[in-house]
Amino acid sequence: MKCVLNIDKSKCLNCGICAEICPSCIIEMQEDGPVCVWERGCMACGHCVAICPTGALDNNQCPREEQIPVTVPTLDSTTAYEFLRSRRSVRCFRDELVPEEKISEILSVAQYAPTAANSQGLYYIVISDSAVIHKIADITAAWMEEEIIKGSSSSRYFNNVLHTYRERKIDIIARNAHQMVFALARRLNVTGISNWEQASAYAELYAPTVGVGTTIAGFIQTCGQEGYQPMRELLAVPTKQKIVGAMMLGYPKYKYRNLVTRQHLKVEFR
Ligand SMILES: Cc1cc2nc3c(=O)[nH]c(=O)nc-3n(C[C@H](O)[C@H](O)[C@H](O)COP(=O)(O)O)c2cc1C
Repeated sequence: MKCVLNIDKSKCLNCGICAEICPSCIIEMQEDGPVCVWERGCMACGHCVAICPTGALDNNQCPREEQIPVTVPTLDSTTAYEFLRSRRSVRCFRDELVPEEKISEILSVAQYAPTAANSQGLYYIVISDSAVIHKIADITAAWMEEEIIKGSSSSRYFNNVLHTYRERKIDIIARNAHQMVFALARRLNVTGISNWEQASAYAELYAPTVGVGTTIAGFIQTCGQEGYQPMRELLAVPTKQKIVGAMMLGYPKYKYRNLVTRQHLKVEFR
């Protein structure tokens, strides 16, 4: 196996930062400089390469030539605060579809979210067909009904949702969205849902910067995460994959004019 680390000794300062920041603790400072002591333990996060002050270190799992220098300064706190606070769930969408390139752009940004041991590994399915989304909502309603029969602790809530969906004919499940993103992960990936939660947060924050609104499709997502077979079949989820997340997206029909408040911060410093 080719050595993971490649050190240019003429540039290396032996400063040891690469060893200090390596999340897997596989870089050791030896007499001769940094040495990788467990090649297979490298999670290809790229930290060692990105932090090296002289560009002396390369890593064949995350080559220097694929990295780009940081040029944009960190956001000032007022801008960051207002930006984060202004993200809102969007549930009313215009008829116009968001082009595939724009959805890919949003999902590409979501790839920079943290994932357990840099596992990444999310696979996305984008549905841009209202009729299919309607079927997805129907399947979710059928799943809720089964959950109620099974005595789910969410029965009361599901009953209300079903009443709204079926009797009042309001699409509280899929919000009449024309487009949805499903996230899949390998069935054995125990952190698939957590990875999606991080990724979706990035997607939801980035989307408004390109004019797109999003909302986590919680009912649909839970139905998918539970592995409900009719949903798996409709989406043609491969046997070795599982649904870990679902999100509605589209161009917002309306614009929020105010920033809202949240619950009082509950924190205990010890
Ligand atoms: C796990 C999760 C599931 C959610 N499920 C739904 C859902 O099924 N339908 C919906 O309209 N909003 C859903 N939301 C959005 C929340 O209702 C929303 O974040 C909350 O009301 C706060 O509003 P904001 O996102 O605009 O700040 C979900 C959010 C999360 C984090």
